[in-house]
Parts: sequence; C-alpha cells; structure tokens
Amino acid sequence: MVGTSAASARPTLRLVEVAAEEAARIPTGVAELDRVLGGGLVPASLVLLGGEPGVGKSTLLLTALAAVSGTRRALLVTGEESVAQVKLRAQRLGGAANVEILAETELDAVCATLQAERPDVCVIDSVQTLYAADIGSAPGSVAQVREAASRLLRAAKGAGVATILVGHVTKDGAVAGPRVLEHLVDCVLQFEGDRYHAHRVLRATKNRFGSTNELGVFEMTGAGLVGVPNPSELFGRTEGGEVGAAVACALEGTRPLLLEVQALVAPTDLAMPRRVATGVDPRRLAMIVAVLSRHARVALGQADVFVNVAGGVRIDEPGADLAVALAIASAARNTPVHDGTAIFGEIGLTGRLRAAAQAERRLEECAKLGVRAVVAPHGTPSRASPRLLEVDSVRAAISAGLEPANGERRAEAER
Ligand SMILES: Nc1ncnc2c1ncn2[C@@H]1O[C@H](COP(=O)(O)OP(=O)(O)OP(=O)(O)O)[C@@H](O)[C@H]1O
Ligand SMILES: [Mg+2]
Repeated sequence: MVGTSAASARPTLRLVEVAAEEAARIPTGVAELDRVLGGGLVPASLVLLGGEPGVGKSTLLLTALAAVSGTRRALLVTGEESVAQVKLRAQRLGGAANVEILAETELDAVCATLQAERPDVCVIDSVQTLYAADIGSAPGSVAQVREAASRLLRAAKGAGVATILVGHVTKDGAVAGPRVLEHLVDCVLQFEGDRYHAHRVLRATKNRFGSTNELGVFEMTGAGLVGVPNPSELFGRTEGGEVGAAVACALEGTRPLLLEVQALVAPTDLAMPRRVATGVDPRRLAMIVAVLSRHARVALGQADVFVNVAGGVRIDEPGADLAVALAIASAARNTPVHDGTAIFGEIGLTGRLRAAAQAERRLEECAKLGVRAVVAPHGTPSRASPRLLEVDSVRAAISAGLEPANGERRAEAER
C-alpha cells in the first residue's frame, strides 16, 4: 500500500545541477576492439564479452591488457587457467610483461582486491568461475553468476575500474550465464566465429556509450589475433562464373562490407522443403524465398534452399536482401551472376525494392575494391564508377544481374 513505508523522501536534483565530465576513454590498443566499443573503454564501465568455448576470448583480452599495461595498471583475474598457463599464452603473444595477475575464484576476495589495488582495467576470466560462499548454489549457476556480476559492478564502479567480464555462451546462447547479465552491464560484446576457420567477428549487442552496429574482424594466427582492417577484400571475392554466388554490399554500422552470399537449390521430395540459413535471419530467408516464387517466377516449392554467408559473418541488415535473392535465383536457374558485380537493396513483400540506406558509402566501397557494376534500387545516387544498374523489382534485378541462360544450361537444369 502506498504511504505505509518507513523510508523518508529524499531531495532530488535537476540535471543542470549535476556535475559530469566525460572522462577520456582508455584505448585498448586493439583497433578493432576500440571500434566496437565506440572508441575505447569508458573508465569504470562494466563490459561483458560473450563467446563460445575456444573462440579466442582470453587471447583477445590478454592482447588488450598487454597494450593497456604500457601506460596504465592492468589486472587479469583468472579463475579458469593457472598462472603458468596464462604466462605461456603471454609469451606467445608478447608484450604482456607488466600485466598483473591474480588466480582467484572467491568473489569477495576479487572485489576486495579491486578496491584495494584500483587498477585502471581489469579482466575477469571468467564470470562463471567466481563463487560466493553465502549463495547456496554451485559456481556457474544463474544465481551465482548474477550475484558475481552485481557485486563486481558495485566494486568496479566504486573503485573506478573498467572491468571486462568473460562469459561462456553455448551454441544456443542460453545456458546459465551471460544472457542473465545483459541488463546489468554497460556493454555486451559478442565474439563469434567458427573455431575451424581463422576469422572471428566481434560485435556489440548492447552499448551504453556508443553504437551497436560496429563490427570488428580478426584473424586468428599463431601469434594471436590480428585485426583485419579491410574485410571486404577477404569476404567479398567470388570465383567468376560460379553459379549460386552473389556479392552483397552490406552496411555494418558505419562500415560498408562486401560479402559473398552463397546459395544452393536442390530438388527435394519433402512436403516441407528445407530453408537453411547460415549468417542470414531464417525469417528473412523465408520471406525472400516467398517473394522470389510469387513475384519473380523462381519456383522453389519443390526445392531445398541453403544460404550461407562467407567468412562466418552474420548479416542483420535488410540492404543485403537483394544479394540473397540473386544468389538463390542464380542457383535455381543455373546461371551465374555477371562477373565483377555487387548487389544491394531491400526487398518489400510486393516484390518492389526500397533504396538502401547510405548508398553513397556502399558505392564508394565497391569502387575501392574494383567492382565494375552494381545492381541497386531506383533512386540510388549515380557516380562515375562502378556502373549503376538501377532496377525497381526483384524480377528486374534478376534480369540485370544474372547472365542470360543459354539453352543448354536450361535443359540441364530441367533434367
Ligand atoms: N599455440 C597456438 N598456436 C596457434 N593458435 C593457438 C595456439 N593456442 C591456442 N590457439 C588458438 O587460440 C584459440 C583459443 O583461444 P582462447 O583460449 O583465447 O579462447 P577462449 O575463448 O578463451 O577459450 P575458453 O572458452 O576455453 O576460455 C584456439 O582455438 C586456437 O585457435
Ligand atoms: Mg579462455
């Protein structure tokens, strides 16, 4: 009931009376990480780095700590690996001689150390190994993880320590862990990539101090993670004349990115043909398949459709729709996309195309990488190079983007 509580009212402030200075960010020394954070670590902020086992979380953060330790105090709290294991990794990566290290899993001891030592940056590897004796459940349980994060939050804010928590995520991202912390922390970073491929993608899914659209790309090498400043060169290549491949010019934050989209269309007897997407939202794929069937005469009712984005990158942006559609159409019709062509544009349910955001930027990236022609919706500003093929529907995009089918190919497809 209202009015029965014993607490007394507190004075409030107007914002004009609040003194606040934006503190200078702490550069992590890893350019791709700084980009995703929005220009470096904010002092006294709490960041969660999630990722599947073995993706390279410890490697990335030790590299950052090594760079930070050149000018500031950097502390690594390791609950997962022994001090000797960390030392071996540090030797492999180099430059980490001044990083301070603490092997500890007891939550209160870690908090007390933060308050006493007050390093500028602290990494907790991992939040799942921390343990508070007064909470009954086992380490890694939801209750323990949540308690660890909230006590660390208080300690870190109090002592002015920028803290990065490492959290393990399983394939479905569910199990007791990082997901329950997302609302507590200032920034959630996701480190993704295929353990079997060398490339890793870092993105922010929540950021109180910057955009969430930025993307960092790394390559895992024996000497650690190396930033890839120009990922388009890596992911945007196709073999000329290959059927079922199209180059999308997608926008990730402020960064245009050329990405190869691959599609396979295979006849099936299944009543519910499969639509399998890797790197593309499955609902988006279902929509594109439906639009292709209904508005572009690409019959896919009796075919399984598989779509894959090169390099393990995930596309979240509608501007990549048209490239996905052309890759599928190319696979279905067994004709390649014109060599040296990139594609962007958003597909509407009516089959009509909508101009994609920041077309100028995308065209610039295409020009930089030697793309000769771009298929894009009407209303895209034209420039000298690459040549712009303006289209208004998915159907028109298919005629503009695909090589004409010759009789032989068509006969083979129908067989
Ligand atoms: N000696 C080595 N030479 C080259 N690459 C290595 C070497 N040791 C480890 N790696 C790479 O580092 C990756 C593991 O990195 P790291 O330990 O940072 O991952 P992690 O995400 O912290 O894993 P975990 O979940 O186990 O803590 C391996 O998948 C491998 O690619
Ligand atoms: Mg690790």
